[in-house]
Amino acid sequence: MSNDSKQAIHLRDYTAPDFLIDETHLNFQLAEAATTVNARLVLRRNPAGRPDAALVLDGQGLDTRRLSLDGKLLGTGDYRIEDDKLHLLLPLPEKFELESVVLIKPQLNTALEGLYKSRHMFCTQCEAEGFRRITWYLDRPDVMSLFTVTILAEEKRYPVLLSNGNLVDSGKLSNGMHWVTWKDPFRKPCYLFALVAGDLKYVEDYFTTKSGRRVTLRIYVEEKDLAKCSHAMSSLKRAMAWDEKAYGREYDLDIYMIVAVDDFNMGAMENKGLNIFNTSCVLARAEITTDKGFQRVEAVVAHEYFHNWSGNRVTCRDWFQLSLKEGFTVFRDSQFSAEMNSPTVKRIEEVSLLRTVQFAEDAGPMAHPVQPQSYMEISNFYTPTVYEKGAEVVRMLHCLLGPVTFRAATDLYFARHDGQAVTIEEFVGAMETASGRDLQQFRRWYTQAGTPVLKVRGDYDAAVQTYTLTVQQSCPPTPEAEQKEPFHIPLAIGLLGDAGSLALHLRDAPDFDSADNTQRVLEVTQREQQFVFEQVREKPVPSLLRGFSAPVRLEYPYTRDELAFLMSRDSDGFNRWDAAQQLGVSVLQELVVAVLQQRPLELDPKMVAAYRVLLQDETLDPAMVALMLELPGELYLAEEAEVVHAGAIHEARQFARKTLARELRREMHAVYLRHSPGPGAYQPIAEAIASRSLKNTTLSYLMLLHDKDLMQLCLDQYNNAANMTDASASLQALLNCEADFVAPVRDKALRIFYRRWQHEPLAVNLWLQLQATCHLPGALARVQALLQHEAFDIRNPNKVRAVIGAFCGQNPVHFHAADGSGYAFLADKVIELDAINPQIAARLLTPLTRWRKQPPAQQLQMKEQLQRILLCGKLSPDVFEVVCKSVA
Ligand code: TRP
Ligand code: ZN
Repeated sequence: MSNDSKQAIHLRDYTAPDFLIDETHLNFQLAEAATTVNARLVLRRNPAGRPDAALVLDGQGLDTRRLSLDGKLLGTGDYRIEDDKLHLLLPLPEKFELESVVLIKPQLNTALEGLYKSRHMFCTQCEAEGFRRITWYLDRPDVMSLFTVTILAEEKRYPVLLSNGNLVDSGKLSNGMHWVTWKDPFRKPCYLFALVAGDLKYVEDYFTTKSGRRVTLRIYVEEKDLAKCSHAMSSLKRAMAWDEKAYGREYDLDIYMIVAVDDFNMGAMENKGLNIFNTSCVLARAEITTDKGFQRVEAVVAHEYFHNWSGNRVTCRDWFQLSLKEGFTVFRDSQFSAEMNSPTVKRIEEVSLLRTVQFAEDAGPMAHPVQPQSYMEISNFYTPTVYEKGAEVVRMLHCLLGPVTFRAATDLYFARHDGQAVTIEEFVGAMETASGRDLQQFRRWYTQAGTPVLKVRGDYDAAVQTYTLTVQQSCPPTPEAEQKEPFHIPLAIGLLGDAGSLALHLRDAPDFDSADNTQRVLEVTQREQQFVFEQVREKPVPSLLRGFSAPVRLEYPYTRDELAFLMSRDSDGFNRWDAAQQLGVSVLQELVVAVLQQRPLELDPKMVAAYRVLLQDETLDPAMVALMLELPGELYLAEEAEVVHAGAIHEARQFARKTLARELRREMHAVYLRHSPGPGAYQPIAEAIASRSLKNTTLSYLMLLHDKDLMQLCLDQYNNAANMTDASASLQALLNCEADFVAPVRDKALRIFYRRWQHEPLAVNLWLQLQATCHLPGALARVQALLQHEAFDIRNPNKVRAVIGAFCGQNPVHFHAADGSGYAFLADKVIELDAINPQIAARLLTPLTRWRKQPPAQQLQMKEQLQRILLCGKLSPDVFEVVCKSVA
């Protein structure tokens, strides 16, 4: 389709469907050259639709062979096919059956939407609008249907044939073909349809639900991967138990299947009863998977499972409501992961992601509200804003309502809307009914884009012993609106005195009767508001936005001494970490200025002193120490800067890291040794993960000292590592070490790694990613070489992310090289990929759209490359939308 005919779709134009599809009977004949899809749809007019509307179905790239209506073959005058639509031109009765036969070619489908082949396996991805690439249909989530699916295929190549629901029939033919029929007892929109065919093996387990039903759990993989499924399986059982306890949600079918595929555009997909996963989100084994990898598997398995209620049983009316299922489900999986691991660590990781990726999106050309008002290509709106900020909005509701009322509200939401396709408004409505609160102003979180700024001032009046917090809120303009109305912001706070947390007596508000009167959630609703605390006997240091109670930028004029105080004394773990971050930001910003002015660099001794305290206190949680030792990342520093000087940021941060390593070498070495226990079985549990993370953080510092003994320490860790966490951390430290004497060791370590793991694609991806993010000179040349390596395959999204995505998104100092080579490289790759996989091409483009905060020369080069993409002709709607909005 040409770009001009791709129109923006607006939420305000929504109308109910004119027809409903009560039953969907699909028949697939899978074959090597082409697949035949026979669809029999039982349709009727929607009483809520326009009474004499014509029937228009969606279809893309279908070779239509036959159409019939109530058994009568349609002639060419009875219908018209145009622009991916099928218009029926004859008068239609109230109720009728439409049958179609189409041919499709899954083996040529590199977009990985609809039915496609991943290695030797057939699989599907229908969200958001992939089903229209399979058959003519009303491809919209508010059309829900009962699906019966028959699959016919060669038995030898495709012994396993799967679809949603229950297996109801199967048989063999004499010619080596076999068939199965699956029936899903739940009505569902077509984006939840799935089909899998391949030579797969499975691991099986059971879960008994709280009402005593026994559910079969199966994870289907290639035979070689059978030993990597146990973590996903145990995660699934934990998730099922947790959803019963935390939300009262029980599983509703007799079988739950997960299939792992290598070629997948995203992490995983919640198809009813038949989840399809990227292998990277299912397979885990200590030797080839890092701790982060294990945690990702647990989180994604849980996320897709939780969708069974928040997404499938209650689904979205239209794609503007995407955050209804994604924001809510991310919130649910985040609560789950917090409980399974360390809540503070989990929160810190979430906030780091939000502050870099989502805040950057909010400040860029693709900024949109959690509920977008319009889109050209919906695939472009599976964003950090819809997912992560959407989850923060639900978290704020949880905070404002409290856990008990929040649970009552979700119970009400599920009970009211089970089996329906609804809107975000229904979700907030249930929150309102259950709590009796007015959430009118709160709804702005869904409709206004941009990251609000909270400017806070604290005034202590010793004479009357009051402490006054003055809070101002504002929000920068974003594409959808210049002016913003004030948000309803929960601001969790505490006040710290010399002896610890102070009791809070907020003027004109009752004291809490609970034991903890040292923390309070202030509700900020005005542009400017004051909160007065009484009986404050000393000048406090405020601890603000505890636990990151709202997705905002906080500005408070802390001194470095106050930050160091909060770092060691705040009772809120998240805020202790955040104080360390803010101290780091302040110190590093000063160093960036010095770099730019070519002045000598000097690290504030306060920073060294604060780090020394952290390293010496053996009573602290090692996970927290590791996180606090990690200086703010280059991406966060870029986010905090007015103008981003990627090179200066890198230099300043490296200087600070080297200085800390030099000043604290003894302490770091001691911590490293303390957390290097002898061999023991690997366990992906919080305590062990914390210990590894602290050890590896100190190792990366020590490797900055260019000391042969320390290099040997690192090499020993690499050679003796029994798990990928320790192996990859030491390899990364070697790769990024600038010392000349490390060069031969580095190359050898890379070779050993590849030789050992070349048959494990997920380990190879890590190997690629470590090289693509290496900051030593010559990065782009190394990346170009990786693209030629036998391990690279541009049709596999994981490989593209590991090399191109990692270089452009996580290696800012080289991506923003002064000569513009990084930008030209990305533009080349986006153009090449757009012909193969538009969704991935459009996602990859993101770093090039963030030109606004770059220095003028970089801006020019970036915009030049965007123009070059735009002029190259036949772009997909995906890339076209992103480029257009970015150059505007
Ligand atoms: N619903 C999926 C999730 O759980 C998202 C998803 C998976 C997706 N595959 C996709 C979205 C392909 C768009 C295209 O988050
Ligand atoms: Zn999801």
